[in-house]
Amino acid sequence: MSRTALAVARVRAYESARPDPLFIDPYALAFIAAAGAERPTGGPTGPFARRLVAHGILRTRYYDDRLLAAGAEQVVLLAAGLDVRAHRLAWPDGTRLFELDLPPVLAFKERVLAEQDARARCARTVVPADLTDPAWPDRLVAAGFDPGRPTAWLAEGLLVYLEADRAAELLTTVGRLSAPGSRLLLEQGRDVTGTPVEEGLTGMTDLWRGGLGPGTGDWLDAHGWTTAFTALADLADSLGRPLPPAVRPAGGGTPGGTGPGFLEADRN
Ligand SMILES: C[S@@+](CC[C@H](N)C(=O)[O-])C[C@H]1O[C@@H](n2cnc3c(N)ncnc32)[C@H](O)[C@@H]1O
Repeated sequence: MSRTALAVARVRAYESARPDPLFIDPYALAFIAAAGAERPTGGPTGPFARRLVAHGILRTRYYDDRLLAAGAEQVVLLAAGLDVRAHRLAWPDGTRLFELDLPPVLAFKERVLAEQDARARCARTVVPADLTDPAWPDRLVAAGFDPGRPTAWLAEGLLVYLEADRAAELLTTVGRLSAPGSRLLLEQGRDVTGTPVEEGLTGMTDLWRGGLGPGTGDWLDAHGWTTAFTALADLADSLGRPLPPAVRPAGGGTPGGTGPGFLEADRN
């Protein structure tokens, strides 16, 4: 199983148990139990972990809202991990949703969802594939994806694990598969510089390669997309979850700034 996918499931289980959750993930605990992982308890303590958890929670809700607002009949979750948006969001009738991730991750996910008798709220297709393998678009098309129709793409928690050239390659492919009117949602930057990584988290942060970093929006704007940026801190304020000072990123978060945030990119 993917450690990183499980870490996100733990964050979602933690949020789902709050009295005022920004979302409820009904299967996060089942994934954790099936993987034999520890249940989240009292929440993160150190500043680095708190920042990571806040980021994971806020972005989940942001992408929930923005994916539905995209109104696309075709949705692709790149590196879907243990994301159960297919099951928990109220998709319009006729939505086709594709999930891509590595074969062992999707095999584990399908087993647990079957045990839970989980029912998707859209036409859901899983496509086991390595996104660094040039064959993944063919697999997606073979699974029923139509590159001629507008698509809402989600790349959540993905690019940071790729080197810049790999990230650019992946986004180039996504662009090629995106009809006009398509939308891509993804993170830009992660302001953790200078915050010491607490014990127990290095297993995850050691995997970070940075993706396109703070230049992600500029790269997309130069490659056929028009991007809008939402700063993490502004999102937190708008969702009624202002970031505490210890967690508030330096670097601001203004468009084009170096702070972390989220991009909504529309295909020209
Ligand atoms: C941090 S998790 C995010 C999962 C999911 N997007 C979410 O937010 O719940 C990163 C995911 O990327 C997947 N991944 C990493 N490298 C991949 C690759 N080369 N091809 C496909 N998936 C990959 C991992 O298996 C993992 O599920």
